[in-house]
Amino acid sequence: MTINDRINFGSKLGVVAAAAGSAVGLGNIWRFPYELGQNGGGAFLIIYLLCVILLGMPIMLSEFIIGRTGQANAAGSFKKLAPGQKWWIVGLMGVFTSFLIMGFYVVVSGWTLEYIVQAVSNQFINKDTATLSRVFADFSTGTLRPIIWITVFMIITATIVLAGVQKGIERSSKFLMPLLLIIIIALGIRAVTLPGGIDGLRFLFKPDFGKITSEVVLSAMGQAFFSLSLGMGCMITYGSYISKKTNLSKTVVQVTMLDTVIAILAAIAIFPAVFSLGINPAQGPELVFITLPNVFAHMPGGYVWAILFFVLLCVAALTSTISLLEVIVAYFVEEYKFHRITIILLATAGILFLGVLSSLSLGVWKDVQIFGMGFFSLFDSLTSKILMPVGGLLIAVFTGWKLNKDSMLEELSGGGQFKTNFFKFYIFLLRFVAPVAISLIILNQLGLSQWLGF
Ligand code: TRP
Repeated sequence: MTINDRINFGSKLGVVAAAAGSAVGLGNIWRFPYELGQNGGGAFLIIYLLCVILLGMPIMLSEFIIGRTGQANAAGSFKKLAPGQKWWIVGLMGVFTSFLIMGFYVVVSGWTLEYIVQAVSNQFINKDTATLSRVFADFSTGTLRPIIWITVFMIITATIVLAGVQKGIERSSKFLMPLLLIIIIALGIRAVTLPGGIDGLRFLFKPDFGKITSEVVLSAMGQAFFSLSLGMGCMITYGSYISKKTNLSKTVVQVTMLDTVIAILAAIAIFPAVFSLGINPAQGPELVFITLPNVFAHMPGGYVWAILFFVLLCVAALTSTISLLEVIVAYFVEEYKFHRITIILLATAGILFLGVLSSLSLGVWKDVQIFGMGFFSLFDSLTSKILMPVGGLLIAVFTGWKLNKDSMLEELSGGGQFKTNFFKFYIFLLRFVAPVAISLIILNQLGLSQWLGF
């Protein structure tokens, strides 16, 4: 595939659909609720929203600008914008981050395939919470079955990226996404009306500020980066495919709103059920997989809802893994002239290896620990709590301090047709708010703040 093909594919891509496809995924429906549950509920939600608005939106806009101005992959775009300097390393770091994210993301994506099968074979009916938890634990800590699903899922991702049919996928996600939204709303209505469901809403929307710790703040920030696909060049790569006619700031607002609404709706579907069923909200990664099957079992037409839900969850995961793989592929194809197929095969092999490590770390290898974590949590924490925020910080510094402001304004205004009255505030966020907030949050968590005397 030549560079021209790449741009071609890009100009026809429904940009909101593609970027939203990347952003909306397991991060919204699987990760957001359990992170919220583990971090005390309402207070986490508020900090999360602050991070989305003050860090996420400006950094997404910066990534789009870098990509569309640079017209290349994550590292290549930096090379074009800052020739002879080391900024491209930020892009390279993103490629590495992409591998690590995929390393645990495919495990959970594999779970969605298992749950499609369970839904189709009507496995949720007449099972109580304890049984559903046990079923999930037996499956996810098993050896062979999760690995088979990871492999199947990775083959699907690789085939789509190889065939270059992202466009088809993104186009279909234009109607699949609203469908997902409808299902989550229906689930939410059922969950809220369960006996005791209101306690879940209270947990979600009544912040207890006493619960805010440095860990909660870091987790909320990490979740914001993760959910919006930021800090590792994903939106730079997609930005390079965006046509010059597109209004970037409007795209950012649309993608961010959609992503945030879906996450909050997912939480509304889950927490009332969690409280109604007496599930521990701080359960962890299994939260969605043991809570929602229960809700389906208590819903008219639950059989069909369940199938639809897990199929759409799987598709949402797929549009995210496509974007992650594309970061790696675009980098190696453009920078090292790899054939698309070669790098897709190599990357898939590497990701499968990491995926197997992550999956086994929940079962037979749970005692293999690095920094007190198994591979699954290690890949997750390392990426969302360190690599993505640091990447985001560097992207903010690059666009805030380094990149030519006139050319940025030019990108944003589309030759004068789009509003840019937010520009000063945007640059202020990039120059000061993002670098200071991200550094403080990370330092604070590392305990360095005491050491540095603040
Ligand atoms: N944002 C996606 C989700 O919420 C996951 C994802 C896709 C991602 N691309 C990314 C996360 C890039 C971080 C960086 O499921």
